[in-house]
Amino acid sequence: MADATMFRDGVLAGKRILITGGGTGLGKEMAEGYARLGATVYICGRRKGILEETAAGLSAKTGGTVKAIACDIRVAQAVEDMVAAIWADGGALDGLVNNAAGNFISRTKDLSPRAFDAIASIVFHGSFYVTLACGKRWIAEKKKASVISILTTWVWNGGPFTVPSAMSKTGLFAMTQSLAVEWGPHGIRLNAIAPGPFPTEGAWARLSPGAANRGESGSGNPMGRVGEMPELVNLAVFMMADGCEYMTGQCIAIDGAAHQAGTGTFSRLAALTDEDWVKVREQVTSANEKDKAQRSV
Ligand code: HXC
Ligand code: NAP
Repeated sequence: MADATMFRDGVLAGKRILITGGGTGLGKEMAEGYARLGATVYICGRRKGILEETAAGLSAKTGGTVKAIACDIRVAQAVEDMVAAIWADGGALDGLVNNAAGNFISRTKDLSPRAFDAIASIVFHGSFYVTLACGKRWIAEKKKASVISILTTWVWNGGPFTVPSAMSKTGLFAMTQSLAVEWGPHGIRLNAIAPGPFPTEGAWARLSPGAANRGESGSGNPMGRVGEMPELVNLAVFMMADGCEYMTGQCIAIDGAAHQAGTGTFSRLAALTDEDWVKVREQVTSANEKDKAQRSV
């Protein structure tokens, strides 16, 4: 297992960081890593109960401060209200992690316009709303800051069967590169991480429905394994911390070189039959319904 303690204690002390979608999965892991290293962390999502449970659990576990805010980032005004509340709670943020996302596998021909919008409204629109709400404040206050967007390796080679996600994530890569230039003079840097498979409940329920064991899907990866959470967290800390601030506009893959070896994460799904796709959809829908029943916003 990777070493989760490669950074000195307190390396993020005094930093205030918002992680969208920080109540679960990779966002929760990064929240823990940042809090452990001294940051005050805000996490947002639509399920208040999950967020509060995560915030309380991580605060107790790390001895740090993790705060929960229910917010649907698809709603621009809700984002503006959340960011205003964070600023009012203790001043400017120093960092933002655009981590919230929606995704599911589907043949593109089976998607409705609403299905496309369901993904694009979270990933493409929502992440932009949060970046803008923070960025305009940083520029007005002459505050330097760091933005990390969690992308996927299909920003480089496409994402068959996940086209709305691939299109939206690629848009965020364009945002990262564009704003690195536009906001560089303001001391605001933007970078991105493109993880390969890091098993989480949210992703696996929608991308490998029915998989018996989340840990067994490393076959086909040049390293023969999936990612380990501390590896991802360490990269997210490195990108967020001071000390390498000349790095901006970059997207770093952490995938065991899978994208150099393959032709898109889900290209093998071309072999699925119509019956297989009906089954896949039933499984994804049941995961969606379970989460929806817990939403408070
Ligand atoms: C085709 C589908 C579908 C499916 C939903 N839809 N699931 N179409 N195949 N499997 C369609 C619906 O029929 C509907 O269209 C439209 O999408 C909206 O559906 P809702 O259920 O109303 O959507 P909503 O409540 O907005 O939920 C959004 C969601 C949901 C994206 C569908 O999954 C969600 O909230 N996800 C958040 C968490 C998540 O996805 N985590 C995974 C991230 S992993 P019609 O026309 O019928 O009304 C990731 C990358 C991992 O991003 C990379 C690994 C390598
Ligand atoms: P996850 O646990 O499902 O995380 C997604 C999070 O986004 C959830 O906490 C969800 O909370 C939140 N979210 C979704 N829609 C939202 C909205 N409208 N407003 C606010 N929050 C919203 O999945 P994950 O695997 O950790 O994924 C995290 C990030 O990593 C995503 O960007 C994903 O694309 C990326 N990624 C993951 C992998 C992987 O292997 N796991 C690989 C590559 C990239 P609510 O439902 O409560 O809103």
